[in-house]
Amino acid sequence: MNSKYRSVFSAATDQQRQENFENYWEFTQHHGGELFEDDKDLSIKRARLQEFMANPVQLRTPLANPNAFYRNYIEMKDDPKSLDRMTLMLTAMYKFARHEWVGIKAAWDAIPNMKNAHTIEDKISRVHLAEEFCHVRLFDQMLKICGLSQVEWVPLNPVVEKIYEQFPKIPGFIMNTPAFVTELMGVTFYFHLHRLFDDVLANEPEVRNRLKAMLEEITIDEVAHVGQRRNFISSFDVQIAKALVRPFYTLFFSDIPEVWQLFDVEQMIKDGEAFDYNQIPDRIIEETWIPSYCRVG
Ligand SMILES: [Fe+2]
Ligand SMILES: [Fe+2]
Repeated sequence: MNSKYRSVFSAATDQQRQENFENYWEFTQHHGGELFEDDKDLSIKRARLQEFMANPVQLRTPLANPNAFYRNYIEMKDDPKSLDRMTLMLTAMYKFARHEWVGIKAAWDAIPNMKNAHTIEDKISRVHLAEEFCHVRLFDQMLKICGLSQVEWVPLNPVVEKIYEQFPKIPGFIMNTPAFVTELMGVTFYFHLHRLFDDVLANEPEVRNRLKAMLEEITIDEVAHVGQRRNFISSFDVQIAKALVRPFYTLFFSDIPEVWQLFDVEQMIKDGEAFDYNQIPDRIIEETWIPSYCRVG
């Protein structure tokens, strides 16, 4: 196969990274539209969500036991082996999105707002966070489509919340590498989740297609974030990032037992370590952003 793209762990010069920050900043403004800072929202993303909501879909067969979801979505109380795959999938989605939500709400208050964002990197980070809030809204909507209208976004326990609050205050040269690995983990998880929809929602074509469309909205952003966060780190640190993929994914998912039951975590790790853009469907490639040094020729 002819490769069009290089590994995301490829080296880049300082000059290339500077150019790519400028290029990403151009991209992200067109991609998300106007930033509504008070609402942590973006005009184009908001319109997309409204489009989805204006054309509702629902399950042909409602969830047999929504209480199984509500009992286990904050914390797994039952033996996960006793739960059906649909419930496990929905609790896993919530838990993944919840971690994202906790991380971004802490970061939103810690980083400069757009008025006080004086560097291109600060501006990029502000819009990036607004995009992440849009993802949480999409996940919330996905759960509602499955009949789960009582979902609450609950903070983690106070100790973990405090830890998340400290992250954005740690200097960039330390935090940028794990932040890149986190984005990479998101993309890997979403590709695996996309495939799981085919399996778990085989008899629910309307909901399956809608959840896929919503997840693709998120994945387009996340693929762009992977490149953007790659651009924050040096060629040396990107090798450290590669070594962090395995421990990082393992640690993160150790907290979500249903993930181990539904997904091939080993394959996720391998996909993370081997990440380039060659396997990504064209419709995502067309709308996302890729650093120039990850393109061949
Ligand atoms: Fe996200
Ligand atoms: Fe992201």
